[in-house]
Amino acid sequence: MNRTMKIALFGPPGAGKGTQAKYIVEKFNIPQISTGDLLRAQVREGTPLGKMAKEFMDKGALVPNEVVIEMMKERISDGDCSKGFILDGFPRALSQAEALSGIVKLDAVVNIVVDESALVRRITGRRMCKCGGTFHVDFNPPKQTDICDQCGASLYQRDDDKEETVLSRLEVYRSQTEPLVEYYGKEDIVHDFDGNRQIDQISSDILGFLSKLEG
Ligand code: AP5
Ligand code: MG
Ligand code: ZN
Repeated sequence: MNRTMKIALFGPPGAGKGTQAKYIVEKFNIPQISTGDLLRAQVREGTPLGKMAKEFMDKGALVPNEVVIEMMKERISDGDCSKGFILDGFPRALSQAEALSGIVKLDAVVNIVVDESALVRRITGRRMCKCGGTFHVDFNPPKQTDICDQCGASLYQRDDDKEETVLSRLEVYRSQTEPLVEYYGKEDIVHDFDGNRQIDQISSDILGFLSKLEG
């Protein structure tokens, strides 16, 4: 890799950030840093941070900025991030973007654009695995019902994937996160991808774009 590949994946809840991140990790061998996954790990372990975060996550609200900023600062300073990383779910508020710019400069923002009408169905049909595997009962079903293709464990539904919570998450996205597209637009690093297509069509576009970026 000649250049660094410090990228952020943008898009509303259910856009396919986690799904697309997996393909990028595989091709470019850079880590995916998902604040949602990091927070869910804390919740599973029952840490004080996890207990606090769960209250916000279950309502579909953002976890307080200071908490996620601190968590990200620590993670980005790890050695495996020096050549590049994929941010998934961060930054998602102006103060987070400002804090990030004090640590690192992003090379690109990959913005997955999806019609709002598709999002609720994507999220309510999602099934997850503790290994990070992400499936959908209709759009990306596992070979065996509720069993992970990758590791054989049982799939589960996220606590915040109920329809009423999804609607709050979408509202938070519109009010707090979507304005960041304009913020990074000023740096001219936002690239839109049509996310209303098949998973592999989208990934082929994103991977092609990132290969060019890599130079
Ligand atoms: P987080 O985990 O980041 O959730 P999110 O942003 O709501 O996004 P999702 O993970 O729901 O969607 P995704 O885009 O990853 O879609 P996926 O690939 O899974 O955050 C959760 C919570 O943590 C927040 O609400 C907040 O409380 C807290 N939090 C996290 N980060 C924070 C931060 N920075 N600051 C403060 N709080 C924070 O795909 C969705 C489904 O669709 C899957 O079933 C998939 O199989 C399917 N699918 C994917 N692509 C397609 C396609 N092209 N066609 C059909 N189906 C598809
Ligand atoms: Mg995700
Ligand atoms: Zn698994």
